[in-house]
Amino acid sequence: MHIHKYEKWWLIFGTAMLVAFLAIVGVSAFHGGTHPNNSKWTINYEEVDTIAPFNNPGVHKVEGKDWDYEVVLVASAFMYNPMEIEVPVGSKVRFIATTKDVIHGFEVAGTNINMMLEPGYVSEKITTVDKAGEYLIVCNEYCGVGHAMMYSTLKVVE
Ligand code: CUA
Repeated sequence: MHIHKYEKWWLIFGTAMLVAFLAIVGVSAFHGGTHPNNSKWTINYEEVDTIAPFNNPGVHKVEGKDWDYEVVLVASAFMYNPMEIEVPVGSKVRFIATTKDVIHGFEVAGTNINMMLEPGYVSEKITTVDKAGEYLIVCNEYCGVGHAMMYSTLKVVE
């Protein structure tokens, strides 16, 4: 079969572009990694319950650190542990969170706290809670049939 010269060039050009695009996509997706941007370190998500500090979820008052409280949070389908978080207004809080199964979100509506929780990674956010009130915590990553029921409350109290 005879292929016209220009047609052959275009075929080569098209193939080359395809290879170039795939290479760009491949490198950015796999070389760059896909871990969440709030993530500081990794964890074996199957052992979360036995690894400190996640073996003791909850709100902990701390001394001698740059923050006043540590909120250790474990997400799983379809709940947060602890169910409810209460901290005094004006305190500096370090949220440390991970998930035991699939990707979940941790968004405190009306604040700058919004973390993606990915299995195998620990996400962290340090912030000062300077306005009293009750804030709705929602999972903003689709995680399964119970996704819409996955919520919790942050109480910032006087
Ligand atoms: Cu957990 Cu959506």
